[in-house]
Amino acid sequence: MRAPALTRRPAATDVGRAWESRLIRSAHPVVARVVDLAVARRSVTRLPGVGLLVADPEAARRVLTDTEHFTKQGPGSSGALWTPVLGERVLLNMDGSEHALLRRSLADLFSPRVVDEVCREAAQPIVARAAEQLRAGEPVDVVRLAREVSAAVIGQVVGLSSDADLADLLRSSDDIESMVTWRTRTFDEAGVDHARRALAVVQDAAESAHRAAQADTVMGRLALQGVSLDEARSLAAALFLTGVGTVSSALPRIVGQLADAGFLDRPGAATADLDAVIAEGLRMTTPSLATLRRCARPTELNGIRPRQDERVVVLLWWATRLSGGFDPGRRAPVAMRHLWFGAGSHFCLGAPLALAELRAMTGMVLEVAAERGLVVTRRVAARRVLVPRYAELWVSAGAPG
Ligand code: HEM
Repeated sequence: MRAPALTRRPAATDVGRAWESRLIRSAHPVVARVVDLAVARRSVTRLPGVGLLVADPEAARRVLTDTEHFTKQGPGSSGALWTPVLGERVLLNMDGSEHALLRRSLADLFSPRVVDEVCREAAQPIVARAAEQLRAGEPVDVVRLAREVSAAVIGQVVGLSSDADLADLLRSSDDIESMVTWRTRTFDEAGVDHARRALAVVQDAAESAHRAAQADTVMGRLALQGVSLDEARSLAAALFLTGVGTVSSALPRIVGQLADAGFLDRPGAATADLDAVIAEGLRMTTPSLATLRRCARPTELNGIRPRQDERVVVLLWWATRLSGGFDPGRRAPVAMRHLWFGAGSHFCLGAPLALAELRAMTGMVLEVAAERGLVVTRRVAARRVLVPRYAELWVSAGAPG
């Protein structure tokens, strides 16, 4: 899809950068300040009690791709947190040949055909409704739009059948997010039970779709490929955990960036590259703020020697900063490119689906903006949440009221 041509309003990009920092600090008031201070002096640095902080894009890429020295398993890893809830085999807690084998068996999970199909059925009706509202002069909260689209898309992937289930899905997503903070290393027994109960809506739907084994559902295709019921249940929960909060965070932040850089309020523009808008939007927003690794063998990283078993915090949001703010006209330096989706063997499995969802929603916003101009009428940063995001971001055609 082609999007309206964009002419940047340079001074306004500082506003976009300031909003991004505000979102990070509102989500993690203490940690964000401490990290800002630590990495301002050195982009790879040791923070006692936390671990090795990596905010340099090349060093971040090295940690994510060098599986000889850095692993996703072990104490303090996100794998250790999720294994008791999801089981042993959910990609994000695996490494090595078993991980590679499972990834290979899922290679077609989000093929272009599947992605088109899922987005057409689950995302397009919601996006079309929002476009109608905007064209009718009604305000639209793009946070709500992104939450509904991302839940409907994952609902379609795992085989949910009704809108009532979708509301449950969003409640579960909020519920689970509220259980995890930067400090959460493990869940106690009650926490594991609670998380399992919250995930039941997803896993039960996945189980029905897997049992039906129809080639026209994602879970059905997994069954036909020989993926076991337990594995499909676990995988469905993992896709839900990774796929709803990230896209819900990304879209409103990209719309905020477009508005702050002056790209939405002038009707009548021609066409430009929607993929470049989304790539630059993801660079600016990098919804997966950070990811964890453990040093499996001592090595050297930008002059620092990570110790055996030391926790390594790969600060993806900090590693993707560039001066000058949001500018879809430029390409990010090679080391930074796609880093918002990670790198190496754990590179985001859902990236094609996330990009398709963002294309559908951002394309619609830019199209309506080109017809009549859009303005942000209200926005509120979410407080103390795991994935930084807006709690609300309303857009409306015409001047702010
Ligand atoms: C804009 C949206 C998204 C962003 C920014 C994002 C970011 C990431 C990142 C940074 C990783 C790598 C983590 C690491 O190496 O430790 C990752 C992994 C993963 N993502 Fe995404 N993600 C997004 C959307 C999605 C969606 C929609 C899905 C599913 C439908 C998904 C499923 C996964 C899975 C399953 C993994 C684990 C892969 C593995 O360990 O092999 N993601 N994502």
